[in-house]
Amino acid sequence: MKANVYRGPYKLQIEDKPRPEVQKQSDVVLRITATCICGSDLHLYHGLISPDLPGQTLGHENVGIVEDVGSAVNFVKKGDRVVVPFNISCGECEFCQSGLWSMCDNANPFNPKGPGAAFGYAKLLGGYDGGQAEYLRVPFADTMCLKIPEGVKDEQAVLLADIFPTGFYGCDIAGVKPGHVVVVGGSGPVGLMAQMSALLRGAARVYALDRVPERLELSRKIGAVPINVDREDPVKKIMDDTSGSGADACVEAVGYEATGKGMIAPGKNVELKPLVVLETLMKVAKKGALIGMPGLFAPTPADPEGRVSFPLGYAFTKELGFRMGQCNVKNYNRYLMQAIKDGRVDPSIIVTHREALDRAPKLYEQFDKREGGIVKVVLLP
Ligand SMILES: NC(=O)c1ccc[n+]([C@@H]2O[C@H](COP(=O)([O-])OP(=O)(O)OC[C@H]3O[C@@H](n4cnc5c(N)ncnc54)[C@H](O)[C@@H]3O)[C@@H](O)[C@H]2O)c1
Ligand SMILES: [Zn+2]
Ligand SMILES: [Zn+2]
Repeated sequence: MKANVYRGPYKLQIEDKPRPEVQKQSDVVLRITATCICGSDLHLYHGLISPDLPGQTLGHENVGIVEDVGSAVNFVKKGDRVVVPFNISCGECEFCQSGLWSMCDNANPFNPKGPGAAFGYAKLLGGYDGGQAEYLRVPFADTMCLKIPEGVKDEQAVLLADIFPTGFYGCDIAGVKPGHVVVVGGSGPVGLMAQMSALLRGAARVYALDRVPERLELSRKIGAVPINVDREDPVKKIMDDTSGSGADACVEAVGYEATGKGMIAPGKNVELKPLVVLETLMKVAKKGALIGMPGLFAPTPADPEGRVSFPLGYAFTKELGFRMGQCNVKNYNRYLMQAIKDGRVDPSIIVTHREALDRAPKLYEQFDKREGGIVKVVLLP
């Protein structure tokens, strides 16, 4: 089968690989019908995560039709059209059973007590092949697969593998409530989904901070107030609009490449400011507000503990709260599916590219440079 394979930083290629098979009897194999490129894939593409698995197939946002079913699978059937969360989770351990699906103890063979597992995300997250391919092996299939009802399109459902739940999670951990003023840093796919989610949760006003005009235009379409951070001071604008009191809740949806690659620039005379967006949010946050951080701040080979200089005193005196980490997709995907099915929201308005799998390496390059209005790419194997 064809697969989009990681061969090192900035080196992806379409290769012929063996079609995956059921390895454990709790597995299914999907024929992939839609799979996306994600901002998280860019951190891998830049060689930041762990450049230790050349030959791995990328792709953690996957929809497909079930073809092979292990004998221990009870609820998923051949022919089912399903979306699978990017987090791989057993459903049985202490963490899965408390809703921390991203911290599963039984999914990451390289680091069982570590940060769980995901498709196509290096050894860091278990070394599993991803779904930017014609077929995908899905472990723990009964826990993982969510059936897609009729009336929901593949390009809507595939956004439930990660970014729509992740945007919603960003709002959840920021405590977004009806009537809130919410500020979202970033209008990439995750930021846009956080903006849509804040409005779905009843926010009165949502501000969107980015610098890419096409992305800010999508924020406007979603119903947020766009602020181009290169043209306008977001702190002044938001504090003026709120008579100096600030935002009730904030979401950081940019991550640690806000001014360059990673937390530190080893051996180079460049000062990176990975927290620049977070610090803006801390300034616009109302006293006592929570800041949700779905944007990725992972260790890098050059910076294994992800250390940064952080204005803790400022945060303490303002009594701000922070929560961060991988989205636990399974806590949200089922009811967001319902909201799509009922026509309450359509996350697929951010899909700008629907293209053949062969084009993946080229599209990574374009997505990385944010060229030609590219926002969300759906690959159709
Ligand atoms: N926590 C999770 O489970 C989870 C899931 C998916 C993605 N993520 C992370 O979320 C982040 C966003 O993902 P995405 O797919 O939207 O990626 P993206 O790279 O497409 O979007 C990032 C956006 O941030 C904007 N940006 C960059 N620097 C900025 C700055 N200094 N000021 C204002 N805007 C700035 C960019 O213009 C871009 O639109 C990434 O770090 C990704 O890894 C986390
Ligand atoms: Zn993703
Ligand atoms: Zn588990």
